Amino acid sequence: MTRELTIPRPDDWHLHLRDGAMLQAVLPETARHFGRAIIMPNLVPPVVTGDQAAAYRDRILAALPDGMAFEPLMTLYLTEDTDPEDVAAAHASGLVKAVKLYPAGATTNSASGVRDFDKVRPVLEKMAEIGLPLCTHGEVTDHDIDIFDREAVFIDRVLDPIRKATPGLRVVMEHITTKNAAEYVASQDKDLGATITTHHLIINRNHILVGGIKPHYYCLPVAKREEHRLALRAAATSGDVRYFLGTDSAPHTDPNKESACGCAGCFTATNTMSLLAHVFEEEGALDKLAGFASEHGPAFYGLPVNAEAMTLTKGDAPVAFPEKIETGDGPVTVFDPGFDVYWSAE
Ligand code: DOR
Ligand code: ZN
Repeated sequence: MTRELTIPRPDDWHLHLRDGAMLQAVLPETARHFGRAIIMPNLVPPVVTGDQAAAYRDRILAALPDGMAFEPLMTLYLTEDTDPEDVAAAHASGLVKAVKLYPAGATTNSASGVRDFDKVRPVLEKMAEIGLPLCTHGEVTDHDIDIFDREAVFIDRVLDPIRKATPGLRVVMEHITTKNAAEYVASQDKDLGATITTHHLIINRNHILVGGIKPHYYCLPVAKREEHRLALRAAATSGDVRYFLGTDSAPHTDPNKESACGCAGCFTATNTMSLLAHVFEEEGALDKLAGFASEHGPAFYGLPVNAEAMTLTKGDAPVAFPEKIETGDGPVTVFDPGFDVYWSAE
């Protein structure tokens, strides 16, 4: 039985760090294990311009504790007013690694997102020309579409038409939650990648709703039925380079989660690598973890694999993760997988 696994230091290709006191508290949870992360721009107000992304990167680096090494990979929040030339300049300077598409109203702080996709056509064309990837929150927001169907409908109505109309545009389908999305990725060429979160490999919709509502399992896109979770596990452990880790670790304080109108997001930064080792071992695929967490993402983004290593060790006793981390804004509950985990990460 494998008790020890060494992989290149992993990266997180989809992460929410927030700002201010929350940033200060959650950043070390990621930087302890991950070399780099694609930083989501859905702050209030959102990170729209190259100048705003540069200022946000400086705030992240200022919040990094002494002695920790971590590289934030910045993104721009796509709006209907985004200037293609500003995007191109932010890319050319090396600052920005992707542009994030939120359909307006799809999730936390997405009000400035896109309503009319024709309005962002010049930006998408510029991105295809310069090779800058588009990261998508892949859900339609139409009120008549059931929330469990919103990802599959997005692929047909929005994503596939955009990709056909913009040849060469590189796209990351972020936090995929359905068999439909996994199959769509597998059917396309290497211009299309997908991130998969830790929690979507662990929970299905029953975990959220059976036996009382569990607000800390609520995120967007919402977890689907079991067949979809199994399809995500198959994709993540397949060794296919198009699937890679993006935790979507999304901290909200407990009062904001445990509320009559609770926020979407699972906070997994603290225990993601232990949970992934558990999942990949269950799937008989520990040899595929390095690809998923450390190699496929850099390949998609054209970056080197981290030179440092991480060792995962399986002990005899369950690892005790903190139930919460304290932040200046209030406590944030760490994702509880609902089972004992024996893998620790150094
Ligand atoms: O669950 C989520 N939380 N999904 C998102 O798309 C946004 C995120 C957040 O910012 O809290
Ligand atoms: Zn997210």
